[in-house]
Amino acid sequence: MRIGVPAETAEGERRVALVPEVVGKLSDQGHEVAVERSAGAGALIPDEQYEQAGASMTDDPWDAQVMVKVAPPTGEETGRLDRDTVLIGFLQPLTNGEGIRAIAKTGATSFALEAVPRISRAQSMDALSSQANISGYRSALIGAQELGRFYPMLMTAAGTIRPATVLVLGAGVAGLQAIATARRLGAVVQGFDVRSAVKEQVESLGAHFLEFDLGGEELEGAGGYAKELTAEQQARQQELMAEAIGKVDVVITTALVPGRRAPILVTEAAVEKMKPGSVIVDLAGEAGGNCELSEPGQTVIRHDVKILAPLNVPSTMAEHASQLYARNIQALLGLMISEEGELQLDFEDDVIAGACITRDGKIVHEAAREAAAAAIAARSARR
Ligand code: NAI
Repeated sequence: MRIGVPAETAEGERRVALVPEVVGKLSDQGHEVAVERSAGAGALIPDEQYEQAGASMTDDPWDAQVMVKVAPPTGEETGRLDRDTVLIGFLQPLTNGEGIRAIAKTGATSFALEAVPRISRAQSMDALSSQANISGYRSALIGAQELGRFYPMLMTAAGTIRPATVLVLGAGVAGLQAIATARRLGAVVQGFDVRSAVKEQVESLGAHFLEFDLGGEELEGAGGYAKELTAEQQARQQELMAEAIGKVDVVITTALVPGRRAPILVTEAAVEKMKPGSVIVDLAGEAGGNCELSEPGQTVIRHDVKILAPLNVPSTMAEHASQLYARNIQALLGLMISEEGELQLDFEDDVIAGACITRDGKIVHEAAREAAAAAIAARSARR
């Protein structure tokens, strides 16, 4: 089987879909891995390492049976797909309606890592988790770096410094790693999530779980993800939370609801309550941000509070991000390759069927189909 690895072309994307370690394993299994020259440059992985692992370096990896990518393909890249291509990558199936329709039109069979079901068997393929873990770790470091105060408590000859308090809103994969990292740096940490099931996880990391009564109903939806709050619940959450936010030095926000704009958890009124010099790290910038004053991709100072909303945080740790991502891809490919080394897609398998977005010219993933239909409706409404 020929597997193609193109250089990523999205702005600021430094990751690469396969690293030499995984190329070596695939080559040992008898597959040909065609890697675009300099594909690893953003992650500082030289071409020689790919060659030593058995890759063939090329200027055009697109004539492969299986294409593995990180970011969704551009229009031009989509034009290189055809009925015989299998595409694997982050395709943003719920927010990239136009792109998904274009992929479907080529007839290619595509798989989105975002759609891999979150079941135990598929944990090794869970790229959302492997990358969110990096974002969470990094967000705690960014908070420490930007704060003009120490995280740990210090007793020095010049007197005692009180530890910083860090509040992490959203305790999924990224939030839990942010909590763990901030704790390791010595901060006093609080966590909050609408899914009360995470209370125990937050506490097991040595943080305090904040509890707000948002109306008592179950806020965990399908697949373990959060449900979107009603407008009333959101307003109540913002009000209750403003007080807690006003008491901390750093707020890290990670709250997402799949396919929706990120909920606003930190209002301008809450920012105004924070001490001058405090920091907000908003990891939800790609989905619009969790702070009302965030400007995705920018760092702004409002009411003497520094608000950062960095985009594509995993890319800032491109080496480990690529390594973990490549292992996720390797695990997924393991499900797609027969013992004889041939591509064999078993659509009876929950993981294969769940992650498949397009096939035979159609969008076969229900939520992606709805998102694509909504994108068309929005486009014709604009006309
Ligand atoms: P995510 O990235 O979709 O969202 C981050 C967090 O924000 C979630 O914990 C969510 O509950 C929270 N959130 C949403 N709206 C909020 C609001 N208004 N206020 C406060 N918090 C809010 O979530 P992630 O990290 O992808 O995890 C989703 C679920 O998947 C979790 O239940 C997690 O435990 C589960 N999971 C399961 C895995 C497996 O079994 N293989 C692997 C990884 C995660």
